[in-house]
Amino acid sequence: MLTDEKSKVIPLRVGMTTHRVPDPGVLVIFGATGDLTHRKLMPALFDLFCDGKLPQGFSVVGFARREKSNEQFRGEMRAAADEFARNKPGDSDRWDEFSQGLYYHRAEFHESQGYASLGELLKQIDAARGTRGNRLFYLATAPEYYALIVQQLGAADLCKSSGWTRVIVEKPFGRDLASAHELNMQLLPTFNEPQIYRIDHYLGKETVQNVMAFRFGNTIFEPIWNRNYIDHVQITAAESVGVEDRGGYYDKAGALRDMVQSHLLQLVSLTAMEPPVSFDSNAVHDEKVKVLRAIRPFTPERIERDIVRGQYGRGKSMLGYREEPRVDPNSSTETYVALKLNIDNWRWAGVPFCVRTGKRLQKRFTEIAIQFRAVPHPLFAREALQTVNPNALALRIQPDEGIHLRFAAKRPGQTTELREVKMDFYYKTAFGSAPGEAYETLLIDAMRGDSTLFNRKDEVEIAWSLITPVLEYWANAPAPNFPNYAAGAWGPEAADTFLQSEGREWRAA
Ligand SMILES: NC(=O)c1ccc[n+]([C@@H]2O[C@H](COP(=O)([O-])OP(=O)(O)OC[C@H]3O[C@@H](n4cnc5c(N)ncnc54)[C@H](OP(=O)(O)O)[C@@H]3O)[C@@H](O)[C@H]2O)c1
Repeated sequence: MLTDEKSKVIPLRVGMTTHRVPDPGVLVIFGATGDLTHRKLMPALFDLFCDGKLPQGFSVVGFARREKSNEQFRGEMRAAADEFARNKPGDSDRWDEFSQGLYYHRAEFHESQGYASLGELLKQIDAARGTRGNRLFYLATAPEYYALIVQQLGAADLCKSSGWTRVIVEKPFGRDLASAHELNMQLLPTFNEPQIYRIDHYLGKETVQNVMAFRFGNTIFEPIWNRNYIDHVQITAAESVGVEDRGGYYDKAGALRDMVQSHLLQLVSLTAMEPPVSFDSNAVHDEKVKVLRAIRPFTPERIERDIVRGQYGRGKSMLGYREEPRVDPNSSTETYVALKLNIDNWRWAGVPFCVRTGKRLQKRFTEIAIQFRAVPHPLFAREALQTVNPNALALRIQPDEGIHLRFAAKRPGQTTELREVKMDFYYKTAFGSAPGEAYETLLIDAMRGDSTLFNRKDEVEIAWSLITPVLEYWANAPAPNFPNYAAGAWGPEAADTFLQSEGREWRAA
């Protein structure tokens, strides 16, 4: 029976199924001394191990260029788990058992000799730990190395083995349509499509997966999930932090590339997709791709009318974007973008999807909000209705993960006065635990060979084909009048007026 940390029975968790443990295998992390491995991958692996979700003999080879011994690598990974994992290595002897499967392999990405010796090491691990030739390669490196590493793996014949071989490619996957297509072409001679796992860590989030469970595991929402009942959809990914130490990367990317092309278009397609014929990876991807294909392309007129971009300036004891480390002091990179998407199909014709994302906004929150139409006939007095907004359903992705329904109720008393009330579901209260880390889900899925939560080739390219004309238009347009919102505000004023002009407004956090 499932219990929380204090051994209290959580009724909603009773009877929950546990997943099949993957086959034994080796995870090779290219870039294993980097930030991603330190903050996300190793803590996720240790948590999976402590939760009994990793197979017997599971092993990790860290590949990077700095000189270090296995022992040093294990020490650094222990420190990473100590800082970022849910389970602390010091709390039990589990770390010793886990760390026996950690190895370090020093080599440069361009050195073919380094891949030949990696092959030898993998054979030794297979013999010592029973990992049966199963290999998962993880490209946790700067994107310019993805193609090189994959070519080297191919040249060293490491893409074939007696077991399965797969490769996880980190985000960003290209910086426009041409580069994403080129990268796909560079990966495909070595790995075929079912072996390639293009990561978008948003898809690993429990609450993002719950969008499908909510829509297709219930009968009552699907009949109203269309243009007959829905006025518009709002998708917000607001961050309160600035660029932190990612200024160098971010200044070359911007909000449209960093957030909209990947995470936000994923949320749009999950919200708008038709029910797939099964939960099979290709069936789900097929439906998501149909949504992306139905999004109306951006012409120059639509870019001017339906997209607002912004950049934060100084706020109360907060630096402006152009003052951040490794950011060009004259940068025109957008840290905020709001856009209206039209999905030209039977279900969504005339229902705008209003999407916004930004850094240094007032509050951190990510949600999908379904704004329903107003009642068709005002049965109650005008004054009674004035105090309530039409129904809204919010799927809160983070923080305080949950689902909230807004509706009208009669205020107790002799007069008919309506008030807005909310019905709230919180993951943490219902299931007794906050959702796990996205990387835990994604790593285990890749080991199990399930690519449902990863991006397919066509999905990535269609998403880029929507975004690339906007990037090109901006690149040739006069420099925008940045900064246009203060750090800690809710974005540029123009983003409000662009919804208000249609009688709509952004939801409060
Ligand atoms: N950090 C995050 O939270 C995060 C989040 C989402 C996506 N990502 C993506 O994940 C990828 C990795 O990011 P990161 O922040 O971990 O990068 P990072 O901290 O810069 O780490 C880069 C790694 O690559 C290794 N490396 C670089 N050049 C090498 C070479 N020529 N030969 C061998 N090893 C080499 C480095 O090894 P040495 O230390 O030995 O030099 C280091 O282990 C990027 O594509 C990033 O966009 C990161």
